[in-house]
Amino acid sequence: MNPTQPAGFATRAIHLGYDPQDNEGALTPPLHLTSTFAFETAEHGAALFAGEAQGHVYSRISNPTLDLLERRVAALEGAEAGLALASGMGAITSVLWTFLAPGDEVITDETLYGCTFAFMRHGLEKFGITVTHVDLTDPAALEAAISSRTRIVYFETPANPNMRLVDISAVCAIARRHDAKTVVDNTYATPVLTRPIELGADIVVHSATKYMGGHGDLVGGLAVGGAEDMGEVRIIGMKDMTGAVMAPFNAMLVLRGLKTLKLRMERHCENAMEVANMLERHPAVTTVHYPGLESFPQHALARRQMPGFGAMIAFELEGGHAAGKAMMDRLQLIRRAVSLGDAESLIQHPASMTHSTYTAEERAAHGITEGLIRLSVGLEEVEDIIADLKEALTAPVPAAG
Ligand SMILES: Cc1ncc(COP(=O)(O)O)c(C=O)c1O
Repeated sequence: MNPTQPAGFATRAIHLGYDPQDNEGALTPPLHLTSTFAFETAEHGAALFAGEAQGHVYSRISNPTLDLLERRVAALEGAEAGLALASGMGAITSVLWTFLAPGDEVITDETLYGCTFAFMRHGLEKFGITVTHVDLTDPAALEAAISSRTRIVYFETPANPNMRLVDISAVCAIARRHDAKTVVDNTYATPVLTRPIELGADIVVHSATKYMGGHGDLVGGLAVGGAEDMGEVRIIGMKDMTGAVMAPFNAMLVLRGLKTLKLRMERHCENAMEVANMLERHPAVTTVHYPGLESFPQHALARRQMPGFGAMIAFELEGGHAAGKAMMDRLQLIRRAVSLGDAESLIQHPASMTHSTYTAEERAAHGITEGLIRLSVGLEEVEDIIADLKEALTAPVPAAG
């Protein structure tokens, strides 16, 4: 086996593309903290700019530390090439700006992360791009809506925050027949649980802030896809339109996170399944949205498309928003915070936090209920997570007298 081109997922996440002997035996790849790169001669510089020589020019275009991360993530997702960006939003905006022009249409699912929704509704539409929300959980609805103006079909699966799933193969096949690119936000699933490129997607984007980094200590984004598409996103969307390049130090942190991604996802999934089972049985809980539960409407698709069900759970309490807020305030271990995918379990209220970018009417139309609570199940001992939730779910008995 060539250790720099290994086959297994976890082995690739740890070794791919790096030989310590190229760096004085250093086990950990060096961190290239440099903004610019010296040319051998003026002619060499001109050749690099003209694309006639290979090499780095300036860290808003490429950097060796980012390069290693980009190759590793592409290999983990089964893609030809990757790109590391400043944030998940940096990845999403850089990809979409690259391929869209006034008059084009984006078809997207009903439910999106709040800032992605805001970018589509208040950003893209301002520049003459039509954004059409279609229920992509029903591929026939896409077939009916797609037209020659549709340039991009965009979705999250599972979607933030209500966990709806999209049948990736079915949707990508329809988009391809109509010459539209499919862009999938794979933040919730990670390549451990879903690899959309292998199911026909053209581009995958991530908030690396979440599971890919995994430790709540960075903000970052990733995109992977075909070499030609990623080349365009690098040179058009990222370099010139958003400037949203990842810092080398953050790339080093994501490389570290990737080493344990598979291990962490396995434990995240195990913990979440137990938490979801407890919530489903609890009398104070009315609804639990978790793909691993048999009661989940798309459980059959989840079983077919995902080897594990992830660690995001959305649920609602008897008593709605007020009861949810009171429960959140009683938690002792689980942190009240947005973001997800960290070792720490995190809980938040989408309607007043991550999805407050929607109006109340928009939330109602897009399947985000006001009482929904979103839980990112962490890596603590599951007994402790469950004990914290159970205690918080049991309203305190008012003092006598
Ligand atoms: C599904 C999803 N996509 C994209 C983003 C945006 O990522 P970032 O915060 O890294 O810009 C988030 C952030 O919460 C997210 O949950």
